[in-house]
Amino acid sequence: MNERDTLCVNQNGQLEIGGITLKKLSEDFGTPLYCMDQTYIENMCAIYDKTLKTEYGDGLICYASKAFSCKEIYRIVNCCGIGADVVSGGELYTALSVGFPAEKICFHGNNKLENELELAVKNNVKYIVLDSYTEADDLDRICQKYNKIQDVLIRVNPGVEAHTHHFVQTATVDSKFGFSISSGEAEQMVLSAKNKKNLNLVGLHCHIGSQIFENKSFSLGAEKMTDFYKLLKDKHSIEFDVLNLGGGFGIYYSNDDSKKTCEEYADYIKNIAQTLNTAIQKKGLKKPFLILEPGRSIVGEAGVTLYTAGRIKTIKDVKNYIAVDGGMFDNPRFALYQAKYTVVVPEKMNVKPSVKYSIAGKCCESGDLIAEDCYLPEIVEGDLIAVLSTGAYNYSMSSNYNRNLVPPVVMIKDGKAKIVVKKQSYDDIIRNDV
Ligand SMILES: Cc1ncc(COP(=O)(O)O)c(C=O)c1O
Repeated sequence: MNERDTLCVNQNGQLEIGGITLKKLSEDFGTPLYCMDQTYIENMCAIYDKTLKTEYGDGLICYASKAFSCKEIYRIVNCCGIGADVVSGGELYTALSVGFPAEKICFHGNNKLENELELAVKNNVKYIVLDSYTEADDLDRICQKYNKIQDVLIRVNPGVEAHTHHFVQTATVDSKFGFSISSGEAEQMVLSAKNKKNLNLVGLHCHIGSQIFENKSFSLGAEKMTDFYKLLKDKHSIEFDVLNLGGGFGIYYSNDDSKKTCEEYADYIKNIAQTLNTAIQKKGLKKPFLILEPGRSIVGEAGVTLYTAGRIKTIKDVKNYIAVDGGMFDNPRFALYQAKYTVVVPEKMNVKPSVKYSIAGKCCESGDLIAEDCYLPEIVEGDLIAVLSTGAYNYSMSSNYNRNLVPPVVMIKDGKAKIVVKKQSYDDIIRNDV
């Protein structure tokens, strides 16, 4: 476990988050429960914001809200003074519903729908990131209708192979995202977008993947993007004011990953800033406004999912299963790509792990697991089970599979917890059924 002030074991051997024991949270709110450490989120926003300003200068951290989206996170992020990246009308609507400033929003997506583009244009979203020719045509037409000139970026694919799981790589040449630089597609798209009357092409965007630890990958992304900026300048006299290098910073899930303090996460941004500063000088480019879009690393380690152990099945000499009151409907990441987590027993933190367990969900899928082969103290029905680093891509990927209820979310700060997403009810489940 990556311990910190707000995620630690107290003198009684109990796990605490934000100054409250997980036991108390289970008593007050029940399980399953998503617990979010607000202080951690605020620290990460502040550290990223400060590092970008001090190491690079003009720029904006846009929290990639696909990682965890609900009204409260946009309020928190807005109070921290940073921007947001949204990828759907739903995320955009949620952000706008709490007064998130549109001039700090960047809108992505490989297939934005007409109504989503309209929502963005009508609400003066600052940047829309184009991902196809026809999207540029549609957006140009919508902007004409509303008599607006829209700032746009183009998503390009720098062809960087980042060392992470295949399904979360997004910038290799066969990606569904972006225009490839090496094939010449990106250059053609730039020239085409430049000709749109109602679009103002201010720069380019790339995102090389997710859960990447190697600074080299981000440096390479920055080098390839500035090489392309130089090509556009030399060949077409096109210079851009903005560069968006996406997110993807790796976090601690299990002992396979390196542990970092909040402050150490700043190194990702320092490295990008230094690479970019040098590259811009060397290549004779004007210094672009730099946008970075971390999602997972702002909210991931802030989250703990709390479950209650249910049936325990021992298959002699094979496996011990603990079934919990959650599963792939609140955390589909194991089922999707065998994501690894740290599992602990909040009331037995000082008890030596002695039994190997797999944590199973309650869905009707054999693949519905949360974690495999974790050593835990001996578990009995009714014990609390906590899964760490579940703040990103858990609640936001939840579903009602098997008509299970999505757990509520509590935000915890200075020893106080408040519900920020209410518990679903069975009536919620049938609400839209006709
Ligand atoms: C365009 C874009 N920006 C930012 C992110 C955030 O990445 P992460 O949550 O890994 O920081 C993603 C994630 O897929 C993305 O696609």
